Amino acid sequence: MLGGMDGWRTIIEPFRIHAVEPVRLTTREERLEAVEAAGYNLFDVHAQDVLIDLLTDSGTGAMSRDQWAAIQHGDESYAGSPSWYTFLESVQVLFPYRHVIPTHQGRAAEKILFSVIGGPGKVIPNNTHFDTTRANVEASGAEAVDLVIAEGREPSLIHPFKGNMDTESLDRLLTARPGDVPVVFVTITNNSGGGQPVSLANLRAVRAVCDRHKVPLFLDACRFAENAWFVKEREEGQGDRSIPDIVRDFAALADGMTMSAKKDGLANIGGWLAMNDDALAEKCRTLLILTEGFVTYGGLAGRDLEAIAQGLREVVDEDYLRYRVRSTAYLGDALDASGIPTVRPVGGHAVYIDARALLPHIPPLAYPGQALAVALYVEGGIRGCEIGTVMFGRQPDGSETAAAMDLVRLAIPRRTYTQSHIDYVIEVVQAVAARAKDISGYRIVSEPAALRHFTARFAPLAA
Ligand SMILES: Cc1ncc(COP(=O)(O)O)c(C=O)c1O
Repeated sequence: MLGGMDGWRTIIEPFRIHAVEPVRLTTREERLEAVEAAGYNLFDVHAQDVLIDLLTDSGTGAMSRDQWAAIQHGDESYAGSPSWYTFLESVQVLFPYRHVIPTHQGRAAEKILFSVIGGPGKVIPNNTHFDTTRANVEASGAEAVDLVIAEGREPSLIHPFKGNMDTESLDRLLTARPGDVPVVFVTITNNSGGGQPVSLANLRAVRAVCDRHKVPLFLDACRFAENAWFVKEREEGQGDRSIPDIVRDFAALADGMTMSAKKDGLANIGGWLAMNDDALAEKCRTLLILTEGFVTYGGLAGRDLEAIAQGLREVVDEDYLRYRVRSTAYLGDALDASGIPTVRPVGGHAVYIDARALLPHIPPLAYPGQALAVALYVEGGIRGCEIGTVMFGRQPDGSETAAAMDLVRLAIPRRTYTQSHIDYVIEVVQAVAARAKDISGYRIVSEPAALRHFTARFAPLAA
């Protein structure tokens, strides 16, 4: 399966276990009680009541021996800590932008950037905005527009780079709204669109459109290493190149980036905002000091900066990336072979089950993704995440519409679960799929004004 150096089929994790955490086994009755008490919102279920936690790959991975050792080097000086310079060097080896602004996580970088460049009347295109990105754009008064290629909206369609941006639509938008687009964003990999990669050729084409309209281009680079691995595997002419070289090509095509180090920083917390524009950096640093902290630590402790610096060295390792992408595909391929509809091909960090296709009797406004996520939890204690109408259905004008897709994301924490854990997940999903007809939809009982999926409460509809 791994198809490693010697071509063996079996995936082996390229590490062995050094410290263990217990997983608490629960019964079906206990889980039913826990999910009812949580208003059928899995974000409100206590983590100790979860058996296999696939809610997110964000900050949930295992750190390496060398990251824990690096933490001991953390220097907590307020200004100019050596840990800051270690972090800065590690970031700039891959992303050589002039200004690097540390933040406590990705959304803090988004908040600062869009507070400066967003605002009413502005529009920000992206291949697909992640939920916090969209929320931060909209909180500034600007409009968030998704321009992924048509293939990226077809769950079962095979395409090597389903995260690519539709450059013709981008060109049309920039022509129709001159002066209204302060930045074009491209998310690598495209999380909300199924963890699908973006090709270097596509980013070059996006850059050309941006240049024609004199608009800067930024990366949402959370999963840059996984994206680079797909480029190496799938894009013509890239197979012999090193991962850091491919990453630097992506960086060079853009003018800046936002980053959550909780993904391909292999850390439990952290992020940054980076750019070449001096005037923009100055405005962002002013906001950083207001809300995050001084410019050489952002919202982070010195030890966090050290863990990220070491994580960035490890994440570009080819043995790690080969294992990472192949082991995610192992889950997706097994579900596909059992006839369970998933987003194909499998992305880098997660398998996305097409809940709308699996539960065609549940209309989008009765939340098939939520229904499936709850069923997986009750059946086997697996916590996934609805990415669909609950997450994206509420519009800024208060109306509700079906999202483009209703998916359940099974995100794989990095270096955390073994193949037998994943075999168990496969068995549970198969059992739930076998009784799909009996699963009913949900209605929302209460919800906040924005980002409702985190705290909304639900009630099951009658079968
Ligand atoms: C593509 C993308 N952008 C931004 C974010 C936000 O990062 P954070 O959770 O660190 O705030 C995420 C987090 O999942 C993401 O996947």
